[in-house]
Amino acid sequence: MSIQQKARSRCHWLPTLDKTQDTLYLTLADQLAADIAAGRMSPGDKLPPQRLLADALGITLGTVTRAYREAERRGLTEARVGSGTRVRGTQADEPDFHHLSRASAGSIDLSLSIPIPNPVRAEQLAFSLQQIANQPDITRQALAYQPEQGNLGQREILAEWMTRHQLPVEASELLITEGGQHADYLAMQALIRPGEAVASAALTYPGMIAIARQLGLKHIPVPTDHQGIRPDALERLCQQQKIRLLYVMPEYNNPTGEHMSQARREAIVDIARRHDLLLLEDGVQYVIPSQRGTPFYRLAPERSLYIFSVSKIIEGGLRFGALRAPTNLIPRLSAALRAQCWSVPGLMGAIACRWLSSGNADTLIDWQWAEVSRRQVLLKQTLLHYETEAHAYGFHAWLKLPEPWRAVDFVAEAAHRGVTLIASDPFCVGSHPAPQAVRICVTPPAEIGIFETGIQRLSTLLREGPSHAAPLV
Ligand SMILES: Cc1ncc(COP(=O)(O)O)c(C=O)c1O
Repeated sequence: MSIQQKARSRCHWLPTLDKTQDTLYLTLADQLAADIAAGRMSPGDKLPPQRLLADALGITLGTVTRAYREAERRGLTEARVGSGTRVRGTQADEPDFHHLSRASAGSIDLSLSIPIPNPVRAEQLAFSLQQIANQPDITRQALAYQPEQGNLGQREILAEWMTRHQLPVEASELLITEGGQHADYLAMQALIRPGEAVASAALTYPGMIAIARQLGLKHIPVPTDHQGIRPDALERLCQQQKIRLLYVMPEYNNPTGEHMSQARREAIVDIARRHDLLLLEDGVQYVIPSQRGTPFYRLAPERSLYIFSVSKIIEGGLRFGALRAPTNLIPRLSAALRAQCWSVPGLMGAIACRWLSSGNADTLIDWQWAEVSRRQVLLKQTLLHYETEAHAYGFHAWLKLPEPWRAVDFVAEAAHRGVTLIASDPFCVGSHPAPQAVRICVTPPAEIGIFETGIQRLSTLLREGPSHAAPLV
Protein backbone atom coordinates (compact mmCIF):
# COMPACT_ATOMS: atom_id res chain seq x y z
CA MET A 1 0.00 0.00 0.00
CA SER A 2 1.39 3.44 -0.91
CA ILE A 3 1.98 6.16 1.73
CA GLN A 4 -0.98 8.04 0.32
CA GLN A 5 -3.30 5.03 0.48
CA LYS A 6 -2.19 4.27 4.04
CA ALA A 7 -2.75 7.88 5.07
CA ARG A 8 -6.16 7.94 3.39
CA SER A 9 -7.24 4.86 5.31
CA ARG A 10 -6.37 6.57 8.61
CA CYS A 11 -7.93 9.97 7.91
CA HIS A 12 -11.38 10.35 9.45
CA TRP A 13 -11.90 13.61 7.55
CA LEU A 14 -11.01 13.34 3.90
CA PRO A 15 -12.29 16.26 1.84
CA THR A 16 -12.50 16.18 -1.93
CA LEU A 17 -10.10 18.82 -3.04
CA ASP A 18 -10.06 20.60 -6.38
CA LYS A 19 -6.32 20.83 -6.88
CA THR A 20 -6.61 23.14 -9.88
CA GLN A 21 -7.23 26.10 -7.55
CA ASP A 22 -4.31 28.50 -6.95
CA THR A 23 -5.00 29.02 -3.29
CA LEU A 24 -5.31 25.41 -2.18
CA TYR A 25 -5.25 26.28 1.50
CA LEU A 26 -8.35 28.49 1.08
CA THR A 27 -10.12 25.74 -0.85
CA LEU A 28 -9.34 23.32 1.96
CA ALA A 29 -10.64 25.75 4.61
CA ASP A 30 -13.78 26.37 2.49
CA GLN A 31 -14.30 22.62 2.23
CA LEU A 32 -14.11 22.30 5.99
CA ALA A 33 -16.66 25.12 6.40
CA ALA A 34 -18.99 23.36 3.95
CA ASP A 35 -18.61 20.02 5.76
CA ILE A 36 -19.41 21.66 9.11
CA ALA A 37 -22.43 23.45 7.64
CA ALA A 38 -23.67 20.16 6.14
CA GLY A 39 -23.17 18.31 9.43
CA ARG A 40 -20.46 16.03 8.04
CA MET A 41 -18.15 17.44 10.71
CA SER A 42 -19.61 18.18 14.13
CA PRO A 43 -18.53 20.33 17.08
CA GLY A 44 -15.77 18.56 18.99
CA ASP A 45 -14.67 16.43 16.00
CA LYS A 46 -10.91 16.25 15.76
CA LEU A 47 -9.23 17.17 12.49
CA PRO A 48 -6.62 14.71 11.22
CA PRO A 49 -3.01 15.45 12.16
CA GLN A 50 -1.61 17.85 9.59
CA ARG A 51 1.09 15.55 8.23
CA LEU A 52 -1.42 12.72 7.78
CA LEU A 53 -3.87 14.89 5.89
CA ALA A 54 -1.09 16.26 3.70
CA ASP A 55 -0.01 12.72 2.79
CA ALA A 56 -3.61 11.61 2.27
CA LEU A 57 -4.39 14.48 -0.10
CA GLY A 58 -0.98 14.51 -1.76
CA ILE A 59 -0.36 18.15 -0.88
CA THR A 60 2.35 19.91 1.14
CA LEU A 61 2.36 20.12 4.91
CA GLY A 62 2.62 23.93 4.56
CA THR A 63 -0.71 24.04 2.67
CA VAL A 64 -2.47 22.07 5.39
CA THR A 65 -0.93 24.23 8.12
CA ARG A 66 -2.14 27.40 6.39
CA ALA A 67 -5.61 25.89 5.87
CA TYR A 68 -5.86 24.95 9.56
CA ARG A 69 -4.78 28.44 10.58
CA GLU A 70 -7.33 29.97 8.22
CA ALA A 71 -10.08 27.73 9.66
CA GLU A 72 -9.12 28.83 13.15
CA ARG A 73 -9.06 32.48 12.10
CA ARG A 74 -12.62 32.08 10.78
CA GLY A 75 -13.65 30.62 14.11
CA LEU A 76 -14.44 27.19 12.64
CA THR A 77 -11.93 25.31 14.76
CA GLU A 78 -9.83 25.66 17.86
CA ALA A 79 -6.33 24.33 18.25
CA ARG A 80 -4.84 23.33 21.55
CA VAL A 81 -1.19 22.72 22.12
CA GLY A 82 -0.81 19.01 22.73
CA SER A 83 -4.30 17.95 21.73
CA GLY A 84 -4.65 19.03 18.11
CA THR A 85 -7.38 20.89 16.27
CA ARG A 86 -11.10 20.38 16.76
CA VAL A 87 -14.28 21.78 15.24
CA ARG A 88 -15.56 24.50 17.54
CA GLY A 89 -18.86 23.93 19.31
CA THR A 90 -21.69 26.35 18.59
CA GLN A 91 -24.68 24.99 20.47
CA ALA A 92 -25.53 23.41 23.77
CA ASP A 93 -22.76 20.88 23.33
CA GLU A 94 -20.22 23.50 24.42
CA PRO A 95 -19.42 23.53 28.10
CA ASP A 96 -21.04 26.38 29.97
CA PHE A 97 -19.03 29.32 31.19
CA HIS A 98 -16.92 28.97 34.29
CA HIS A 99 -17.13 31.65 36.91
CA LEU A 100 -14.50 30.17 39.19
CA SER A 101 -10.86 30.59 38.42
CA ARG A 102 -8.87 27.72 37.00
CA ALA A 103 -5.61 29.33 38.07
CA SER A 104 -3.23 26.74 39.45
CA ALA A 105 -1.67 27.30 42.87
CA GLY A 106 0.96 30.03 42.73
CA SER A 107 -0.24 31.38 39.38
CA ILE A 108 -1.14 35.07 39.13
CA ASP A 109 -4.83 35.06 38.32
CA LEU A 110 -5.79 37.69 35.74
CA SER A 111 -8.76 35.68 34.49
CA LEU A 112 -11.67 36.72 36.69
CA SER A 113 -13.71 39.87 36.96
CA ILE A 114 -14.11 40.03 40.75
CA PRO A 115 -13.71 42.74 43.40
CA ILE A 116 -10.17 43.37 44.62
CA PRO A 117 -9.68 41.17 47.72
CA ASN A 118 -9.79 43.18 50.93
CA PRO A 119 -9.92 41.74 54.48
CA VAL A 120 -12.17 44.64 55.53
CA ARG A 121 -15.11 42.83 53.95
CA ALA A 122 -14.82 39.83 56.26
CA GLU A 123 -14.69 42.16 59.27
CA GLN A 124 -17.74 44.05 58.04
CA LEU A 125 -19.64 40.83 57.45
CA ALA A 126 -18.92 39.63 61.00
CA PHE A 127 -20.11 42.98 62.34
CA SER A 128 -23.30 42.97 60.24
CA LEU A 129 -24.14 39.41 61.35
CA GLN A 130 -23.78 40.43 64.99
CA GLN A 131 -26.01 43.45 64.47
CA ILE A 132 -28.64 41.34 62.73
CA ALA A 133 -28.48 38.69 65.49
CA ASN A 134 -29.26 41.41 68.05
CA GLN A 135 -32.39 42.55 66.22
CA PRO A 136 -35.19 40.01 66.73
CA ASP A 137 -37.44 41.67 64.13
CA ILE A 138 -34.83 41.32 61.41
CA THR A 139 -33.90 37.74 62.33
CA ARG A 140 -37.59 36.75 62.37
CA GLN A 141 -38.06 38.37 58.99
CA ALA A 142 -34.97 36.64 57.60
CA LEU A 143 -36.46 33.26 58.52
CA ALA A 144 -39.72 33.93 56.72
CA TYR A 145 -40.59 33.39 53.08
CA GLN A 146 -40.24 36.68 51.22
CA PRO A 147 -42.65 38.09 48.65
CA GLU A 148 -41.69 37.04 45.08
CA GLN A 149 -40.71 40.59 44.21
CA GLY A 150 -38.46 40.73 47.27
CA ASN A 151 -38.71 42.20 50.74
CA LEU A 152 -40.27 45.69 50.51
CA GLY A 153 -37.92 47.25 53.11
CA GLN A 154 -34.91 45.98 51.16
CA ARG A 155 -36.30 47.21 47.87
CA GLU A 156 -36.79 50.64 49.43
CA ILE A 157 -33.22 50.76 50.73
CA LEU A 158 -31.90 49.67 47.36
CA ALA A 159 -34.08 52.16 45.46
CA GLU A 160 -32.89 54.94 47.77
CA TRP A 161 -29.23 53.93 47.26
CA MET A 162 -29.54 53.62 43.50
CA THR A 163 -31.37 56.95 43.24
CA ARG A 164 -28.63 58.63 45.30
CA HIS A 165 -26.12 57.16 42.83
CA GLN A 166 -27.97 58.62 39.86
CA LEU A 167 -29.86 55.50 38.94
CA PRO A 168 -33.32 56.82 39.88
CA VAL A 169 -35.76 53.98 40.55
CA GLU A 170 -38.87 53.29 42.61
CA ALA A 171 -39.06 50.28 44.92
CA SER A 172 -42.11 49.17 42.90
CA GLU A 173 -39.95 48.80 39.76
CA LEU A 174 -37.41 46.47 41.43
CA LEU A 175 -37.33 42.72 41.87
CA ILE A 176 -34.72 41.37 44.26
CA THR A 177 -32.62 38.59 42.69
CA GLU A 178 -29.76 36.31 43.64
CA GLY A 179 -27.20 38.51 41.91
CA GLY A 180 -26.78 39.73 38.35
CA GLN A 181 -26.66 36.34 36.65
CA HIS A 182 -30.02 35.45 38.17
CA ALA A 183 -31.47 38.81 37.07
CA ASP A 184 -30.24 38.19 33.51
CA TYR A 185 -31.73 34.70 33.54
CA LEU A 186 -35.00 35.82 35.07
CA ALA A 187 -35.54 38.50 32.43
CA MET A 188 -34.81 36.11 29.60
CA GLN A 189 -36.85 33.23 30.97
CA ALA A 190 -39.88 35.34 31.80
CA LEU A 191 -39.98 37.51 28.70
CA ILE A 192 -38.60 35.43 25.81
CA ARG A 193 -40.07 32.16 24.55
CA PRO A 194 -37.92 29.22 23.39
CA GLY A 195 -36.98 29.60 19.74
CA GLU A 196 -37.26 33.40 19.79
CA ALA A 197 -34.22 35.52 19.00
CA VAL A 198 -32.18 37.79 21.23
CA ALA A 199 -29.14 39.80 20.16
CA SER A 200 -26.00 41.20 21.73
CA ALA A 201 -22.57 42.40 20.76
CA ALA A 202 -20.79 39.60 18.88
CA LEU A 203 -18.40 39.30 21.83
CA THR A 204 -20.28 39.39 25.08
CA TYR A 205 -20.53 38.20 28.68
CA PRO A 206 -20.37 34.36 28.62
CA GLY A 207 -23.11 34.14 31.27
CA MET A 208 -25.54 35.57 28.72
CA ILE A 209 -24.41 33.10 26.06
CA ALA A 210 -25.04 30.28 28.54
CA ILE A 211 -28.52 31.60 29.37
CA ALA A 212 -29.56 31.82 25.72
CA ARG A 213 -28.37 28.23 25.19
CA GLN A 214 -30.07 26.90 28.30
CA LEU A 215 -33.36 28.51 27.30
CA GLY A 216 -33.20 27.37 23.67
CA LEU A 217 -33.10 30.93 22.31
CA LYS A 218 -31.50 32.07 19.08
CA HIS A 219 -28.58 34.31 20.00
CA ILE A 220 -27.71 36.71 17.20
CA PRO A 221 -24.26 38.38 17.22
CA VAL A 222 -24.36 42.07 16.24
CA PRO A 223 -21.21 43.55 14.67
CA THR A 224 -19.56 46.29 16.71
CA ASP A 225 -17.18 49.23 16.29
CA HIS A 226 -15.25 51.36 18.78
CA GLN A 227 -18.55 52.27 20.49
CA GLY A 228 -19.97 48.79 20.69
CA ILE A 229 -23.13 47.64 18.88
CA ARG A 230 -23.42 49.25 15.43
CA PRO A 231 -26.88 50.72 14.80
CA ASP A 232 -26.72 50.09 11.03
CA ALA A 233 -25.95 46.41 11.62
CA LEU A 234 -28.69 46.12 14.24
CA GLU A 235 -31.18 47.80 11.90
CA ARG A 236 -30.33 45.33 9.14
CA LEU A 237 -30.70 42.34 11.43
CA CYS A 238 -34.06 43.62 12.68
CA GLN A 239 -35.27 43.95 9.10
CA GLN A 240 -34.22 40.36 8.37
CA GLN A 241 -35.80 38.71 11.41
CA LYS A 242 -37.83 39.31 14.53
CA ILE A 243 -35.51 40.04 17.46
CA ARG A 244 -37.20 40.25 20.86
CA LEU A 245 -34.44 41.63 23.06
CA LEU A 246 -31.08 43.35 22.83
CA TYR A 247 -28.57 42.77 25.63
CA VAL A 248 -26.24 45.72 26.20
CA MET A 249 -23.36 46.82 28.42
CA PRO A 250 -23.07 50.48 27.38
CA GLU A 251 -20.51 51.62 29.97
CA TYR A 252 -17.87 49.16 28.87
CA ASN A 253 -18.55 45.93 27.13
CA ASN A 254 -17.36 42.74 28.78
CA PRO A 255 -14.87 41.68 27.38
CA THR A 256 -13.95 44.20 24.67
CA GLY A 257 -14.26 47.41 26.70
CA GLU A 258 -16.12 49.75 24.29
CA HIS A 259 -18.14 52.62 25.76
CA MET A 260 -21.34 53.86 24.05
CA SER A 261 -21.76 57.59 23.51
CA GLN A 262 -25.10 59.29 24.17
CA ALA A 263 -25.76 59.50 20.42
CA ARG A 264 -25.11 55.76 20.05
CA ARG A 265 -27.54 54.99 22.87
CA GLU A 266 -30.21 57.18 21.30
CA ALA A 267 -29.73 55.52 17.90
CA ILE A 268 -30.22 52.10 19.51
CA VAL A 269 -33.33 53.29 21.36
CA ASP A 270 -34.76 54.55 18.09
CA ILE A 271 -34.28 51.11 16.50
CA ALA A 272 -35.69 49.39 19.60
CA ARG A 273 -38.85 51.52 19.40
CA ARG A 274 -39.37 50.96 15.67
CA HIS A 275 -38.79 47.20 15.86
CA ASP A 276 -40.33 46.70 19.30
CA LEU A 277 -37.22 45.34 21.02
CA LEU A 278 -36.79 44.99 24.74
CA LEU A 279 -33.49 46.41 26.02
CA LEU A 280 -31.67 44.55 28.76
CA GLU A 281 -28.85 46.66 30.21
CA ASP A 282 -26.37 44.85 32.39
CA GLY A 283 -24.97 47.24 34.98
CA VAL A 284 -23.21 44.59 37.07
CA GLN A 285 -19.79 46.06 36.26
CA TYR A 286 -20.60 49.07 38.40
CA VAL A 287 -19.43 52.48 37.16
CA ILE A 288 -19.58 55.60 39.37
CA PRO A 289 -22.09 58.30 38.34
CA SER A 290 -19.56 60.86 37.08
CA GLN A 291 -18.22 58.34 34.55
CA ARG A 292 -21.55 56.89 33.49
CA GLY A 293 -23.76 57.73 30.50
CA THR A 294 -27.55 57.75 30.60
CA PRO A 295 -28.86 54.26 31.35
CA PHE A 296 -31.21 52.89 28.73
CA TYR A 297 -34.10 52.72 31.14
CA ARG A 298 -33.95 56.53 31.43
CA LEU A 299 -34.10 56.85 27.64
CA ALA A 300 -36.77 54.22 27.02
CA PRO A 301 -38.35 53.32 30.39
CA GLU A 302 -41.26 51.47 28.77
CA ARG A 303 -39.04 48.75 27.19
CA SER A 304 -35.85 48.71 29.25
CA LEU A 305 -34.66 46.45 32.02
CA TYR A 306 -31.62 47.22 34.14
CA ILE A 307 -29.50 44.82 36.14
CA PHE A 308 -27.89 45.78 39.41
CA SER A 309 -25.72 43.57 41.60
CA VAL A 310 -23.48 44.02 44.62
CA SER A 311 -21.07 41.38 43.26
CA LYS A 312 -18.46 43.85 41.96
CA ILE A 313 -19.07 46.40 44.69
CA ILE A 314 -19.15 44.22 47.82
CA GLU A 315 -18.68 40.48 47.02
CA GLY A 316 -20.20 37.94 44.65
CA GLY A 317 -20.82 35.41 47.42
CA LEU A 318 -23.65 37.52 48.81
CA ARG A 319 -25.68 36.68 45.69
CA PHE A 320 -27.68 39.89 45.98
CA GLY A 321 -28.89 41.92 43.04
CA ALA A 322 -31.98 43.40 41.44
CA LEU A 323 -33.80 43.71 38.17
CA ARG A 324 -35.39 47.06 37.32
CA ALA A 325 -38.32 46.59 34.96
CA PRO A 326 -41.32 48.58 33.68
CA THR A 327 -44.08 48.01 36.26
CA ASN A 328 -46.37 46.31 33.72
CA LEU A 329 -43.79 43.48 33.42
CA ILE A 330 -43.36 42.96 37.17
CA PRO A 331 -46.21 40.40 37.52
CA ARG A 332 -44.72 38.19 34.76
CA LEU A 333 -41.26 38.47 36.25
CA SER A 334 -42.56 37.74 39.75
CA ALA A 335 -44.40 34.65 38.51
CA ALA A 336 -41.20 33.38 36.86
CA LEU A 337 -39.18 34.00 40.00
CA ARG A 338 -41.78 32.12 42.07
CA ALA A 339 -41.54 29.17 39.67
CA GLN A 340 -37.75 29.18 39.98
CA CYS A 341 -37.19 29.52 43.72
CA TRP A 342 -40.32 31.01 45.32
CA SER A 343 -38.33 33.95 46.69
CA VAL A 344 -34.79 35.15 47.30
CA PRO A 345 -33.54 34.56 50.89
CA GLY A 346 -34.10 37.57 53.14
CA LEU A 347 -30.87 37.15 55.11
CA MET A 348 -28.47 37.99 52.28
CA GLY A 349 -30.52 41.07 51.43
CA ALA A 350 -30.50 42.14 55.08
CA ILE A 351 -26.68 41.98 55.07
CA ALA A 352 -26.24 43.69 51.70
CA CYS A 353 -28.72 46.46 52.57
CA ARG A 354 -26.85 47.19 55.81
CA TRP A 355 -23.70 47.60 53.77
CA LEU A 356 -25.43 49.94 51.34
CA SER A 357 -27.24 52.08 53.91
CA SER A 358 -24.31 52.36 56.37
CA GLY A 359 -22.00 53.91 53.79
CA ASN A 360 -19.59 50.94 54.01
CA ALA A 361 -20.34 50.00 50.40
CA ASP A 362 -19.55 53.55 49.27
CA THR A 363 -16.21 53.50 51.08
CA LEU A 364 -15.34 50.21 49.39
CA ILE A 365 -16.42 51.53 45.98
CA ASP A 366 -14.26 54.66 46.36
CA TRP A 367 -11.24 52.63 47.43
CA GLN A 368 -11.65 50.07 44.67
CA TRP A 369 -12.32 52.72 42.05
CA ALA A 370 -9.02 54.46 42.80
CA GLU A 371 -7.13 51.16 42.95
CA VAL A 372 -8.59 49.89 39.66
CA SER A 373 -7.62 53.09 37.88
CA ARG A 374 -4.01 52.78 39.14
CA ARG A 375 -3.89 49.26 37.76
CA GLN A 376 -5.32 50.35 34.42
CA VAL A 377 -2.65 53.06 34.13
CA LEU A 378 0.02 50.50 34.94
CA LEU A 379 -1.34 48.09 32.36
CA LYS A 380 -1.47 50.79 29.68
CA GLN A 381 2.14 51.78 30.40
CA THR A 382 3.45 48.22 30.53
CA LEU A 383 1.69 47.15 27.34
CA LEU A 384 2.20 50.51 25.61
CA HIS A 385 3.36 49.00 22.34
CA TYR A 386 0.40 46.66 22.03
CA GLU A 387 -3.23 47.18 21.14
CA THR A 388 -5.38 47.27 24.27
CA GLU A 389 -8.92 48.53 24.87
CA ALA A 390 -10.15 49.29 28.38
CA HIS A 391 -12.30 51.62 30.44
CA ALA A 392 -10.02 53.76 32.62
CA TYR A 393 -11.75 52.30 35.69
CA GLY A 394 -12.75 48.95 34.20
CA PHE A 395 -12.29 45.52 35.68
CA HIS A 396 -10.47 44.26 32.60
CA ALA A 397 -8.60 45.14 29.44
CA TRP A 398 -8.83 43.52 26.03
CA LEU A 399 -5.49 42.76 24.41
CA LYS A 400 -5.44 42.21 20.65
CA LEU A 401 -2.48 39.96 20.10
CA PRO A 402 0.09 40.95 17.51
CA GLU A 403 0.76 38.53 14.63
CA PRO A 404 1.62 35.67 14.67
CA TRP A 405 0.29 35.00 18.17
CA ARG A 406 -2.80 32.84 18.50
CA ALA A 407 -4.92 33.35 21.59
CA VAL A 408 -4.82 29.69 22.69
CA ASP A 409 -1.03 29.61 22.48
CA PHE A 410 -0.69 32.90 24.32
CA VAL A 411 -2.93 31.65 27.14
CA ALA A 412 -0.95 28.39 27.31
CA GLU A 413 2.41 30.19 27.30
CA ALA A 414 1.21 32.67 29.92
CA ALA A 415 0.16 29.72 32.09
CA HIS A 416 3.68 28.29 31.78
CA ARG A 417 4.97 31.58 33.11
CA GLY A 418 2.51 31.59 35.98
CA VAL A 419 -0.21 33.91 34.69
CA THR A 420 -3.81 32.77 34.16
CA LEU A 421 -5.85 34.44 31.41
CA ILE A 422 -8.94 33.79 29.31
CA ALA A 423 -8.82 33.74 25.50
CA SER A 424 -11.55 35.23 23.34
CA ASP A 425 -13.37 31.98 22.65
CA PRO A 426 -15.91 31.86 25.55
CA PHE A 427 -17.08 35.38 24.70
CA CYS A 428 -18.06 34.60 21.08
CA VAL A 429 -21.75 34.46 20.28
CA GLY A 430 -22.75 31.51 18.08
CA SER A 431 -20.14 30.74 15.48
CA HIS A 432 -18.74 34.27 15.49
CA PRO A 433 -15.00 33.92 14.79
CA ALA A 434 -12.83 34.10 17.88
CA PRO A 435 -10.35 36.97 17.42
CA GLN A 436 -6.74 36.48 18.45
CA ALA A 437 -7.23 38.40 21.68
CA VAL A 438 -7.30 37.80 25.43
CA ARG A 439 -9.05 39.40 28.40
CA ILE A 440 -6.79 40.61 31.19
CA CYS A 441 -8.60 41.20 34.48
CA VAL A 442 -6.97 43.75 36.74
CA THR A 443 -8.72 42.99 40.02
CA PRO A 444 -8.01 39.42 41.24
CA PRO A 445 -4.56 40.08 42.82
CA ALA A 446 -4.87 41.57 46.29
CA GLU A 447 -1.59 43.47 45.85
CA ILE A 448 -0.83 45.85 43.01
CA GLY A 449 2.77 44.54 43.03
CA ILE A 450 1.57 41.06 42.13
CA PHE A 451 -0.60 42.46 39.38
CA GLU A 452 2.43 44.37 38.05
CA THR A 453 4.53 41.18 38.00
CA GLY A 454 1.75 39.47 36.05
CA ILE A 455 1.55 42.08 33.31
CA GLN A 456 5.33 42.36 33.11
CA ARG A 457 5.45 38.64 32.40
CA LEU A 458 2.86 39.15 29.66
CA SER A 459 4.88 42.01 28.21
CA THR A 460 8.02 39.83 28.12
CA LEU A 461 6.06 37.06 26.44
CA LEU A 462 4.72 39.45 23.80
CA ARG A 463 8.22 40.77 23.13
CA GLU A 464 9.70 37.28 22.78
CA GLY A 465 6.92 36.06 20.50
CA PRO A 466 5.43 32.60 20.13
CA SER A 467 8.54 30.85 18.84
CA HIS A 468 8.82 28.80 22.04
CA ALA A 469 5.33 27.39 21.79
CA ALA A 470 5.14 23.63 21.45
CA PRO A 471 4.17 22.52 17.91
CA LEU A 472 0.61 21.50 17.27
CA VAL A 473 0.09 17.81 16.81
C1 LIG B 1 -21.47 41.63 32.75
C2 LIG B 1 -21.78 40.71 33.88
N1 LIG B 1 -23.06 40.42 34.15
C3 LIG B 1 -23.41 39.60 35.15
C4 LIG B 1 -22.45 39.04 35.95
C5 LIG B 1 -22.87 38.12 37.06
O1 LIG B 1 -23.12 38.88 38.19
P1 LIG B 1 -23.39 38.21 39.61
O2 LIG B 1 -22.10 37.74 40.13
O3 LIG B 1 -23.99 39.31 40.42
O4 LIG B 1 -24.35 37.10 39.40
C6 LIG B 1 -21.09 39.32 35.72
C7 LIG B 1 -20.05 38.70 36.54
O5 LIG B 1 -18.88 38.71 36.25
C8 LIG B 1 -20.75 40.18 34.66
O6 LIG B 1 -19.47 40.47 34.37
